Formats: sequence, structure tokens, C-alpha cells
Amino acid sequence: MAASDGSLNGNGAHPPARDGRPHTPHIWQPRHMRYAHLTGWGIRVPDRVVTNVDLEAVVDTTDDWIRTRTGIQERRFASERDSVTQMGFEAARAALNRADVLPNDIDMIIVATSTPEDIYPSSASKIQNLLGATRAGAFDLSAACSGFVYGLNMAAQAIRSGSINTALVIGSEVNSRVLDWNDRSTCVLFGDGAGAVLLEGSDQAGGFMDAVLGSDGSGAELLGIPTVGTATLAEGRQMHKLHMDGREVFRFAVHIITESVRDVLEKANLSLADVDLIVPHQANQRILSAAARNLNVSEALFYSNVHRYGNTSAASIPIALYEAEREGRLKPNDNVVVVGFGGGLTWAAAALQWQSMQEKAPKGLAYRLSQGRRELQYIGAFWRARAMKTYRRVEAALRGSPAKHANLREGTPPKGKPEEAPRDKR
Ligand code: UT7
Repeated sequence: MAASDGSLNGNGAHPPARDGRPHTPHIWQPRHMRYAHLTGWGIRVPDRVVTNVDLEAVVDTTDDWIRTRTGIQERRFASERDSVTQMGFEAARAALNRADVLPNDIDMIIVATSTPEDIYPSSASKIQNLLGATRAGAFDLSAACSGFVYGLNMAAQAIRSGSINTALVIGSEVNSRVLDWNDRSTCVLFGDGAGAVLLEGSDQAGGFMDAVLGSDGSGAELLGIPTVGTATLAEGRQMHKLHMDGREVFRFAVHIITESVRDVLEKANLSLADVDLIVPHQANQRILSAAARNLNVSEALFYSNVHRYGNTSAASIPIALYEAEREGRLKPNDNVVVVGFGGGLTWAAAALQWQSMQEKAPKGLAYRLSQGRRELQYIGAFWRARAMKTYRRVEAALRGSPAKHANLREGTPPKGKPEEAPRDKR
């Protein structure tokens, strides 16, 4: 007997189709689980170095205060040519070179940023265009300084489910453009830069292990950048300028690093003794020292380059991963924990096995050839973008303006009789 909605009979089985053949519904089957490996990494930081002494000339501060309270010695500031998109693109190029992957092979691009040129279009779409990654979906992700680890988790889970195979995760920021130079407690802390990692799917075990993500919006007012949707600015806030309650965020940061490192290790079935390096968001050396004390591990287990770049928000972890590898602190198959925290409030930690996929062929002739193909794709992407713009202009000119076709739409007045503006009836 057919059920009242006509879909199933009384036994829960589908009724026969009208032609009498049995109905066999399509059942979606998940693809088999894969592993997501980090195979490429790259960075781009602006050339301009700004030291604490340079800041003494423009802010009521001292080199000694900044060093002792934060560990920061210098940071990079963007020039007019540097942007989230441009720096992210260059970091992505370096990651693709390291992994020896063509832009055409990328399925997804995620950019974590709080300082994009536009609310939309996303920086990820613009980077997708510059790379010529024509098969990739692209979006920006807003989770402040935790954004890179959020993005890493999203990309890795999409790869593990078999939905995609190759993803770029980028953190890119131009904090120097949102600093309030009248607030000495924040303007000395931040810097600019970008870092990118490439993730690739494989049946070989390893790579991304597990992650914990968290948010507590009750602390939203502690750290932020008001923007276009703000109806009324809270007292002391400025549009597009960063504000922070440093002491509260400091307390939160120490607590949440400790908690989320413990949580992700438990989830990944690891202990602290299994961890070769913790790569935290780089905000303040004192935060890292306090977290190391809480976890009862040596401070040396926490990688730090905050003295060189200050706080680069979502870019700090990929920049730190890149430098840790370059300095020999990260070796193939090392267990790494990355941990981010910041505005939202948000936090995120992930456990990874570093460089655990068999390396591709040594960088010989084949690598140089594919390097050449990558460069050709970037040139092709440039000309493709120009051609598409011209095509859209020509097509619009040939078709005419949408107003010409207004009479084709129901309810629009016939051609030649412009719609009258509503009259004031008084
Ligand atoms: O990426 C997002 C996550 N962000 C963070 O994790 C940042 C967390 N917070 C911090 O790192 C620290 O709270 C700060 C570095 C922001 C501040 O350090 P603090 O030790 O908490 O300093 P404080 O705010 O308690 O201020 C101590 C003193 C104050 O003077 P009084 O009131 O004691 O006379 C400040 O006015 O230091 C003064 N001060 C400065 N002095 C010289 C604040 N900023 C400066 C400065 N130069 N730049």
C-alpha cells in the first residue's frame, strides 16, 4: 500500500514505477577516506622593515618597552604595491613551486584575512584569477588570527572526504593599514605579510590528523575592526581601525593555547611527548612563555619568530611554518601542532604530520619543465583576464543595455513611454 505522501509503501519500500519495473533509488555513497598532506609552503613579506626605534619617532613608546612586553624587535610594513591579494598570490606561487603542482590542478583556494581590499570580491577569487587556477572554487574566511587554522581544517576535511584533491590555504594581511596611530598599546604590535600552504590528497597515511575549532562571541568587543555594516560606532572606536583590550586578550590567549593544544592532542590520540614542535599564532613572546609553563614543556617547543615580524594575524602561522622548516626545526614526518587564537573570540588547533608524503621526483629537468609550465600559466592567466574583460564589454555593446529589453519583462511600460515617477498626491 502506498503511503499518504506517495513515496513509500506501508513496508517502507518504494512503490513500483508506473511502467511496472521496480524503483531503485539512487543512494549516495561517500568516497573512501583519503589523507591530506602538506606538500608545499611559501611566504611573501614586504621589503620595508620597521624597527622599534623607527616607531619611537612617531609614537610615545620605547624600544625597551616593546621588547620586554612583547619580544617584538621589528615588523614589515606594506608598500603601496603590496596588498593581501598580491602578497597572497606570491606566497601561493612559492607553495606551488615547492609542491611542484600546476595552478590548473587546484580545486579550492581559501584565504584567511581580516584586511582584504574589498568585502567582496574575495581576495581568494582575485588570487585564483592571478594564478589561472580555472578549476578552483575560492572564498575568504573570517576568523581573525585563527583563520589560517580554520582554513586548514576546512581544506583538509574536503580532501579527506574525497570531495576535492588539492587545496591552497593562504593567510595574508596588511595590518599596517588598519592601525590606530593614537593607540600605542596596539599600533606597535602588528605587521604585514602572507604565507601559503598546499594540501594534496593521497592514500598514503599521514598529513593532517585532527583539529579543534572554537568560538566565544561573548568576547566579540575585546578585539576587532569595525567596517561597513556598523550602524553606530561604540565610543572610542574608529571605522576600519583595529581596537583591542590587550590585557583581557592576553589572559584569554594563554588559557586557550593551553586548552586547545591539550584537546587536539587527545583527539589525535597523541601526547605532548609525541610533539616535535608547536607553531602558535605569533602575538607576544610572553603569551608563549606562559603557555609553555602551563603545559609544563620547554619554551623551546614553541616556535617563535615574533621578534622579526610582530603579529601578522592570519598570516603568522604559515609564515612561522615556512621559517621553522627553513631553519631545520621541522623535518619530514615530525608531529606538529598549530594553534591560533584571536578576534571573535575564536581559537583553533590542528595536529599534523609534516611533509609525510613521498616527495615527487628530484628537482631535475622534469621539475624545470613544470616550473616553465607554471610560469606560462601565470602569463596565460593575465591575458585570459584581459580577454574576458574585453569579451564582456563587446558582448554588452552588442546586446545593448538591459533597459532596451525592459518591455520584454512583464509589467514594464511599452517602449517610448517612460514610466512616470510617483506623484505627491497632496
Ligand atoms: O592577534 C590577536 C591576539 N592579540 C594578543 O594576543 C595581544 C594580547 N595582549 C598583549 O600582548 C599585551 O596585553 C599588550 C602587549 C597589548 C600590552 O602589554 P601589557 O603588559 O598587558 O601592558 P598594559 O596594557 O598592562 O599596559 C602597561 C603600561 C601602561 O601604562 P600604565 O598605565 O601602567 O602607566 C600602558 O599605558 O604600559 C603602557 N603602554 C606602553 N608604554 C610604552 C602601553 N603600550 C605602550 C607602548 N609603549 N607601546
